[in-house]
Amino acid sequence: MHDLSPTAAVTRGSDELFARARAVTPGGVNSPVRAFNAVGGTPRFIRSAQGPWLTDVDGNRYVDLICSWGPMLLGHAHPAVVAAVQEAVSRGTSYGTPTEGEVALVEEIVARTPVERLRLVSSGTEATMSAIRLARGFTGRDVVVKFAGCYHGHVDSLLAAAGSGLTTFSIPGTPGVPASSTELTLVLPYNDREAVAAAFREYGDRIACLITEAAPGNMGVVPPTPGFNAFLAETCRNHGALFISDEVMTGFRASRQGQWGLDGAREGWAPDLMTFGKVMGGGFPAAAFGGRADVMAHLAPEGPVYQAGTLSGNPVATAAGLATLRAATGDVYARLDEVADALRAGVVDAFTAAGLPHVIQSTGSMFSVFLTDPADGPVSTFAEAQRTDVAAYGAFFHAMLDRGVHLPPSAYEAWFVSSSHDDRAVDHVLDALPAAAKAAAAVSAPEARSTRTSSTGETE
Ligand SMILES: Cc1ncc(COP(=O)(O)O)c(C=O)c1O
Repeated sequence: MHDLSPTAAVTRGSDELFARARAVTPGGVNSPVRAFNAVGGTPRFIRSAQGPWLTDVDGNRYVDLICSWGPMLLGHAHPAVVAAVQEAVSRGTSYGTPTEGEVALVEEIVARTPVERLRLVSSGTEATMSAIRLARGFTGRDVVVKFAGCYHGHVDSLLAAAGSGLTTFSIPGTPGVPASSTELTLVLPYNDREAVAAAFREYGDRIACLITEAAPGNMGVVPPTPGFNAFLAETCRNHGALFISDEVMTGFRASRQGQWGLDGAREGWAPDLMTFGKVMGGGFPAAAFGGRADVMAHLAPEGPVYQAGTLSGNPVATAAGLATLRAATGDVYARLDEVADALRAGVVDAFTAAGLPHVIQSTGSMFSVFLTDPADGPVSTFAEAQRTDVAAYGAFFHAMLDRGVHLPPSAYEAWFVSSSHDDRAVDHVLDALPAAAKAAAAVSAPEARSTRTSSTGETE
């Protein structure tokens, strides 16, 4: 049994670093969600990590349920990854010439997925940006279709908010994106076949591509309804548009073959282009886009569509990614599932006991907890995801943090586990849940706190 009382952790070191950071970096962080704006408080500055544990600069330890927002499939400082990185570093860190490691990493990805050819880049944003450029260059068309709530990195044309009507072009989703960058983007509600059909009816001969998260994880986990991805692939094919499946988050995580392994591989279809990142970099900046050989042949230097990168295929990043994928065996995926099952069951028990309405949704071992009324059914669109009780999540988050569990500091993020989450780490989370669920229930909106607390809507 572990100590269940809040640690009332000393956070002086994090407080001081946050103050220093805010003086020199906007918001004190190098990616917005890290700032804790959605939950309040001081982000923990982490000094080291091992397996499922994070240690902050004040010496507090946390079970990590962020896992670097996905990459750390094997946990932190996995011996095989550390050894591969050390060996690679000892041979120099970047050459700007081709290397054997790049070939091996691409071959590994080609072996696991339906992509025929692949180009390495350094971030998921670069991967989706490049895939869209390639789709436009290949089709000679300009319009891009995406879904509300799907995040594909900070690409100008994809930081778009829906226009006034279902099939009207979108408006910039953030200052700094010119209207001209989003006026060729259509933003549709996720899981809505009729909206997709209507958009293609109206603009089918102008649409270069439709891009979707293979299973959205950036509005919480909102899995595609059965057959939805197949429908998207078919609709694109019927209109001469390319179907881009963004597996930056789900790739090599939702299953050995990513989300495609859970639907496309079984249903017998393949995207025209796919994007990858996170796990395939093993904690280093590596990402990729790839797909049909005839489409990829349009990419420079073989074809006319320009794309390049000084650090693309970096030897240290490729070594880390290759070591990660090679170590990600069936046993690893079985353990990820076990850990996710145990945590989901713990959440259901604790939230039910606390009278806190909730819906848990999953794809593979990736899952998230919506503080919504299960009577409203599963969450299948961004609008439905936005019903989640963010105040209650904030209380839950902090109660967990005080008990040594680091959840994502936002109600709209997936929880990520690793194969290094051993029984001790899992038990630590399970022990923390009941008190944290009570803390959340204490602030949850009274109208949401009905008698209906069962967990439904789980989709895998
Ligand atoms: C589905 C998806 N696509 C693209 C990206 C962008 O990747 P990066 O942050 O490496 O630019 C992300 C990042 O979270 C993502 O989840």
